[in-house]
Amino acid sequence: MSTPVRTAIFPVAGLGTRFLPATKATPKELLPVIDTPLIQYAIDEAQAAGVERMVFVSHPSKGAIERYVLDDAALRASLREKGKEDLADALREAALCPRGDDVVFTMQDEPLGLGHAVLCARDHVLPGPVAVILPDDLILGTPCLPEMVEAYGATGAGHMVATMTVPRDEVSKYGILDGAETAGRITRASGMVEKPAPEAAPSREAVVGRYVLDASIFEALATQEPGAGGEIQLTDAIARGAERSGLAGFRFSGTRFDCGSKAGMLRATLHLAAQDPDYADVLAEMSAPAPRAA
Ligand code: G1P
Repeated sequence: MSTPVRTAIFPVAGLGTRFLPATKATPKELLPVIDTPLIQYAIDEAQAAGVERMVFVSHPSKGAIERYVLDDAALRASLREKGKEDLADALREAALCPRGDDVVFTMQDEPLGLGHAVLCARDHVLPGPVAVILPDDLILGTPCLPEMVEAYGATGAGHMVATMTVPRDEVSKYGILDGAETAGRITRASGMVEKPAPEAAPSREAVVGRYVLDASIFEALATQEPGAGGEIQLTDAIARGAERSGLAGFRFSGTRFDCGSKAGMLRATLHLAAQDPDYADVLAEMSAPAPRAA
């Protein structure tokens, strides 16, 4: 099926205070899970979904993201001179080599919220619905965006968000669907609330960082008043468009790790290590009972 979703937006302007001091000099999106930075997993997912353009909404202090994402021909040439062909090839494969406008960096100078970040991408997107990927939400196993784009075409909802059911005491960390009715992997919803208190939450269907949004989202964001935390919330703009455009949650197949938290990063690292025979000895060593002191 041909995808109607031509643009992926990556909001990467956040200052990553939860990972200080590491993020003093390294953007959180470049922190690796084993040897691959979070941003690379997000890019791979967007490429698998067949998008034509990637728009990175970054911050002037985070130039390292641009250096990581874009091809570095000089570095590849020097590796080749030293006979390190394999490394040069691997870099070439992972890096984005912009052709025309297929990779765009734009800046969000002030931390005015996720909704504001998405609005910053407005002038750079291709016509039609757009995808938004939050690299902090690492989804391993079946890539989320390709299956979501396919489901999006079939449901006819204007806005689609990736969802998972969370325990009631965790609802205040997420956008939560309102009026949710689930059939199979699709949840039809009438709205969404950002980070409700457990007793006020309309459901336990939580939004994780993958969105496919009707282009009308930009109009809604342009007039969106600040919400939770005094920020322009993407959740609020989606909720406003829900009635007109339709809103659906999509229960994805992969496993999601909250890599905005240290425990989540560790879980993701251990999850990948457990699947790689190269690390079997290390993991066995770590889980063996500690030797008794003499
Ligand atoms: C953002 C969104 C929230 C969503 C969450 C998923 O919150 O505002 O609706 O549920 O991402 O990770 P953040 O975690 O950036 O505070």
